Amino acid sequence: MSKSLPYSMKDVDYDNAKFRQRSLSKVLNQTILTNNVKRECLRCSTGKFLLVIMLFGIAYLIFTPTRHVSSHRADHAIINSKDNVTVDTSTGLRRFFRKPPRLPPLLTPDEMRTSNTSVHQIDVDASKWMGKQQQVREAFIHAWSGYKKYAMGFDELMPLSKRGIDSLGGLGATVVDALDTAMIMGVEDIVNEAGSWIETHLAEKISQKGQVNLFETTIRVLGGLLSAYHLSGGASVETTSVGPKPIVYLNTATMLADKLLVAFTSSPSPIPFSDVILRDNSAHAAPDGLSSTSEASTLQLEFNYLSDISGDQKYSLEAMKVLKHIKTLPKVEGLVPIYISPQTGEFSGQNIRLGSRGDSYYEYLLKVWLQQGANQNSNLTYLHSMYEEAMKGVRHLLVKKSVPNGLVFVGELPYGASGSFSPKMDHLVCFLPGTLALGATKGMTKSKAMRDNLLTFEDLENLRLAEDLVKTCVETYLVTSTGLGPEIAYFHVEDYFEEGYDGGNKSSKYLNDIIIKPADRHNLLRPETVESLFVLYRITEDPKYREWGWQIFEAFEKYTKVSSGGYTSLDDVTSVPPNRRDKMETFFLGETLKYLYLLFGDTNVVPLDKFVFNTEAHPIPVNGADKRQ
Ligand SMILES: *[C@@H]1O[C@H](CO)[C@@H](O)[C@H](O)[C@H]1NC(C)=O
Ligand SMILES: *[C@@H]1O[C@H](CO)[C@@H](O)[C@H](O)[C@H]1NC(C)=O
Ligand SMILES: *[C@@H]1O[C@H](CO)[C@@H](O)[C@H](O)[C@H]1NC(C)=O
Ligand SMILES: *[C@@H]1O[C@H](CO)[C@@H](O)[C@H](O)[C@H]1NC(C)=O
Repeated sequence: MSKSLPYSMKDVDYDNAKFRQRSLSKVLNQTILTNNVKRECLRCSTGKFLLVIMLFGIAYLIFTPTRHVSSHRADHAIINSKDNVTVDTSTGLRRFFRKPPRLPPLLTPDEMRTSNTSVHQIDVDASKWMGKQQQVREAFIHAWSGYKKYAMGFDELMPLSKRGIDSLGGLGATVVDALDTAMIMGVEDIVNEAGSWIETHLAEKISQKGQVNLFETTIRVLGGLLSAYHLSGGASVETTSVGPKPIVYLNTATMLADKLLVAFTSSPSPIPFSDVILRDNSAHAAPDGLSSTSEASTLQLEFNYLSDISGDQKYSLEAMKVLKHIKTLPKVEGLVPIYISPQTGEFSGQNIRLGSRGDSYYEYLLKVWLQQGANQNSNLTYLHSMYEEAMKGVRHLLVKKSVPNGLVFVGELPYGASGSFSPKMDHLVCFLPGTLALGATKGMTKSKAMRDNLLTFEDLENLRLAEDLVKTCVETYLVTSTGLGPEIAYFHVEDYFEEGYDGGNKSSKYLNDIIIKPADRHNLLRPETVESLFVLYRITEDPKYREWGWQIFEAFEKYTKVSSGGYTSLDDVTSVPPNRRDKMETFFLGETLKYLYLLFGDTNVVPLDKFVFNTEAHPIPVNGADKRQ
């Protein structure tokens, strides 16, 4: 036991999810399937090749008429009544070749038999992962069933006491958070139930409820409505047959954002107040007068997209003032303190970390830039510069390796750059690997980015850090007796160790590297690790990320599933069986299960070069892809 380290005691209550983060990503629309077909064609005889061409031609004729309707649009994801989300990109034949509807490949059984065994192996793998993906879908249905039975219309389910609780202001946060996941998974019943609830009840709640947190409401409710708008068809002629029309989601989103805007307009600085009283159209600061840096800077994807689709620039203008203002403030190698004052517009204190209250500031620097198409000439290149500088700062000031086995982790500087380093890492920090990988390739696969020589030295450094960090995040799961990660981990370094606080899995090599203090042993079903596994898998195509994701999913199934419906948070991941907390956070449906589902599925679904995920995992199309007809 050495120097007393700054504790997170103050933050132990941040439990409820307020300050989380996530990452985003993009990926070139290349898939296992596309590769398969190409490989296949190279190898087969001319006759077979012609046959394949003919099959494609026929398929093209069949598919073209329905796609035609939307061909004046740019890229647009739609949900077919039958098959989940397909991404329909423009331009004719090429589109068809590059974006086949879904696995398995469109080859005849005969073609399959002639396949080389390694191709066959890929096919076996694909069906293995499709089976696992179905299990995630079943888990989602089970989670929703508990919520619907006991808590419909409340913010969250308390699965053990079988009732609902309004912990986020009472806008039915679980309904809205879960809706786009149901759309992506193609669970029509849930799309209907959630959609109808929103159509019938949400507007009234928005006009009558009291205090809500600007950030939480924006990322969950506004973000969920905006994704639902896009995924149900957006402005296009084609809409899905289930649930309300897209315009219902847009109108509700607009109504909500009009209420939230008062947090910006009533603040004396460009930094918005943290809380809004919906029915009074008023806003005020948090009790200590301060806003979290991440909260003020994690609103822009949503407000920008709303401006795109509504045609009203006021949302984007207010939200972007925050980032333009933060650009002018002093920083420590791009890193920022976790509090900022809406009164003065200045940072408050020196506490620097990528966990709670800091996290998604860094995420949105990158993603807001990507949202505009990562355009070299855009007015938003300043955001990319801020992001790059900050990541350099992270590598220089916050990254260390643990003793004795060298896990790479990101610590904190609670007293600024001149104070001591704390080897503490919130689970929330596990958004960072995904963001780093996305920032490196801009959503392309690594192999394509390498082939096209697009990666700078910085990009390669960031990508390597991403791969090291996501492994550390996974090891914080594997080191515990339950296989689930704690809310906060400390790392053994030269000048810091505490005896007796290991995770309990005696076969983990990292038992002495990772320290889990009693106050930090809970698990809230958080998404950040599986989010990064999803992004890393899409970008590197390394199957180990799927294997890890599967291990984590199995641990959730084993220890957090409640038989009467729903899943629950845990008190202590280091003991078996773990004591259960009575809460299913909205992000379990909005994020954790969505990312797991996408991790095991076709890489063409919600591709990372066409969508950015907001910090609550709600996908938003890049560059307002559907805004203009
Ligand atoms: C959605 O996708 C899954 C596999 O990803 C598939 O089994 C299911 O049938 C699809 N949904 C519908 C309604 O077809
Ligand atoms: C199958 O493909 C792999 C590479 O994908 C190649 O090394 C192997 O020789 C092929 N086998 C046959 C029987 O063609
Ligand atoms: C940058 O902003 C200005 C005005 O704010 C605008 O006129 C210009 O078109 C923008 N440039 C780009 C590349 O978006
Ligand atoms: C314990 O650690 C080993 C080695 O990493 C791993 O294979 C195993 O799954 C872990 N057990 C749990 C419960 O996660």
